[in-house]
Amino acid sequence: MTTAITGRTTAKGAVGTAHTRVEGRDKVTGAARYAGEIPFAELAHGWLALSTVARGRILAVETAPVLAMPGVIAVLHHGNAPRVDTEYIGLLGVPPDPTTAVFQQDRVPYLGWPVALVVAETSEQAREAAEALVVRYEEEPHDVAFEGGEHPDAYPLDAHMPAVAEKGDLEAELAASAVVLDAEYSTPEEHHNPMEPHAATARWDGGRLEVVDSNQGTVWVAAELASLFSLDPAAVRVRSEHVGGGFGSKGVRAHQVAAVMAATVLQRPVRVVMTRRQMFSLAGYRSPTAQRLRLGADADGRLRALEHRSLSLTSTVHEFIEPSAGVARTMYDADAHHTSNQVVRLDVPTPTWMRAPGEAPGSFALESALDELAEKCGIDPIELRARNEPERGPVSGLPFSGRNLHACFREGARRFGWADRDPRPGLRRDGRWLLGTGTAAASFPAGSAPSTGAVTAEADGTFTVRINAADIGTGARTALTLVAADALEVAPDRVQVHIGDSDFGMAFIAGGSMGTRSWAWAVTVAAGELRERLALGAIIPPEGITVRSDTTEAVGALAQMERHSFGAQFAEVAVDVTTGEVRVRRMLGIFAAGRIINPLTARNQFVGGMTWGISMALHEEAVRDRATGGHYGADLAGYHVATHADVPHIEADWIDDPDPDDPIGIKGIGEIGIVGAAAAIANAVWHATGVRHRSLPIRPDRVLRAAQHA
Ligand code: MOS
Repeated sequence: MTTAITGRTTAKGAVGTAHTRVEGRDKVTGAARYAGEIPFAELAHGWLALSTVARGRILAVETAPVLAMPGVIAVLHHGNAPRVDTEYIGLLGVPPDPTTAVFQQDRVPYLGWPVALVVAETSEQAREAAEALVVRYEEEPHDVAFEGGEHPDAYPLDAHMPAVAEKGDLEAELAASAVVLDAEYSTPEEHHNPMEPHAATARWDGGRLEVVDSNQGTVWVAAELASLFSLDPAAVRVRSEHVGGGFGSKGVRAHQVAAVMAATVLQRPVRVVMTRRQMFSLAGYRSPTAQRLRLGADADGRLRALEHRSLSLTSTVHEFIEPSAGVARTMYDADAHHTSNQVVRLDVPTPTWMRAPGEAPGSFALESALDELAEKCGIDPIELRARNEPERGPVSGLPFSGRNLHACFREGARRFGWADRDPRPGLRRDGRWLLGTGTAAASFPAGSAPSTGAVTAEADGTFTVRINAADIGTGARTALTLVAADALEVAPDRVQVHIGDSDFGMAFIAGGSMGTRSWAWAVTVAAGELRERLALGAIIPPEGITVRSDTTEAVGALAQMERHSFGAQFAEVAVDVTTGEVRVRRMLGIFAAGRIINPLTARNQFVGGMTWGISMALHEEAVRDRATGGHYGADLAGYHVATHADVPHIEADWIDDPDPDDPIGIKGIGEIGIVGAAAAIANAVWHATGVRHRSLPIRPDRVLRAAQHA
């Protein structure tokens, strides 16, 4: 691999200066190979066949005709596939999702459930045979309808946070409030849709299982595969060098497990790639949410009561919750503060994390409600938020490690031109367009997790970093190059960073906006120690000098605090109430998100998140057909993701906000860009039209219907 860092290192170091991606040239020239295109000798191709009923039992898998088709080698299904262990407790503290432990039972819990893997000499042969495979079912009635608040069998479920947190007498404080808001908000089912579909190749190599994959953490995938197949973890190697997006969807999924089964049975390498359509049932998704907000405030806007209840769904075979009410526990205090996250089980696939899980839909409801309260109180929405800045964590009582929310609002308001805004709705017109502006707050947890790393001083004067990081398009590889260069006090072009290999040892996943921070910590410790040894005059032998680090103790010693990034989102929209079209004209996000390592790729993360906010506000919606239990239009034509034509000029910037407890000052930036973005747009639509939209996406038909009733 070539290194193509262009910037010059100043006396101040590489961190904080703009650098193009170190693997950028390889990616744009096609030299970088993705998981689905790495060549293997004797490679066989597996194609997943998915259930066509939403609930029932498999009666027969008619393999004989398919086995007679050209090139077909095997058909794996629940009747003949290797047994795996599904009883273990995984890294996430729960048993594996049965969707992942494929072909272990004849029950079908949703439409799109993997029922067979057809393996053939070519991908085309496998696909043709999988599509010809007849599977007979005993069908049972199913229920896929998410009815908002109307689920009597919903129940609270803890996530990384308790399901329920209550302090104070909610009804009494509401009754004593001068201004009360009671509103329901909903967000639809949303899908990650990374550009690169999930793909894995599995093979046995001298008694070791090797999997070449596209994932957000090779240690995670390797550990789950070792557990499922009852293997010594040291006998499993997972590599994932380049990843074309993940957003939470790229963990352990059916394709890796099916590939390992087939490679084991056939004793040759087997590749399984998901189609875009298959990803809609196999890759996870964001649950729809139904949220109720009740806010009570004094006439001056100070909150007395805050209630945020969120309902999301999960499958009948595995529990997952979208904890949308959690964001209220960070953002605002009130004498009575009640939040809860509930879940209902339906005959659908299990949802999973998707960029800012909880915060993305939760901030839409909460930040819309704050805007509605500001309107009712006759107070500027930024001023209302300033009056409700908590001293400590509203639920935890812990101090904030830093809370620069209103520094973001001040800078954002200045640059956006907020001071000139007439708060009255429905007054501004540009031809057929009504114009409006809106704002919302953003926050996302700032965490770090234990990681190990190794830095080698090579005999030729260069340095090699090995850390099991995942660069899922974020620029993490480049950020770590800059961090290592500064810790070593050398120019970045003397540093090579190798990532995405479980043999490099334990490291945190690319998730929770914690990846780069967690890895950078480990790299800094190892590189700093290596620099000290070299400074003492160590002679470098031909094999180099390697220093390893493990941050488990240091991360574990961090004091309990409310640790978050913050941001202020601004949007201007134009609404045509005769067609229902909403156009975002400009967006500005100002963030307090720790020290920024590489301004070029950091801006890309913020703008990417804000673009997701536009997409969430106006476009994305996976619609289920109640009759079949499957999706309408499970593809990028039927499920519209914001494209260039939908996205205006977006500005993202940041204020100085180093984390005092991180060796570099990092907080993490992968997710906060989407938080509050949809609310800022919805608030701007209200300002343009005078109509509140509490259900996403703000589709043309919804705008038209509201305009007719206004
Ligand atoms: Mo992210 S949803 O933590 O990959």
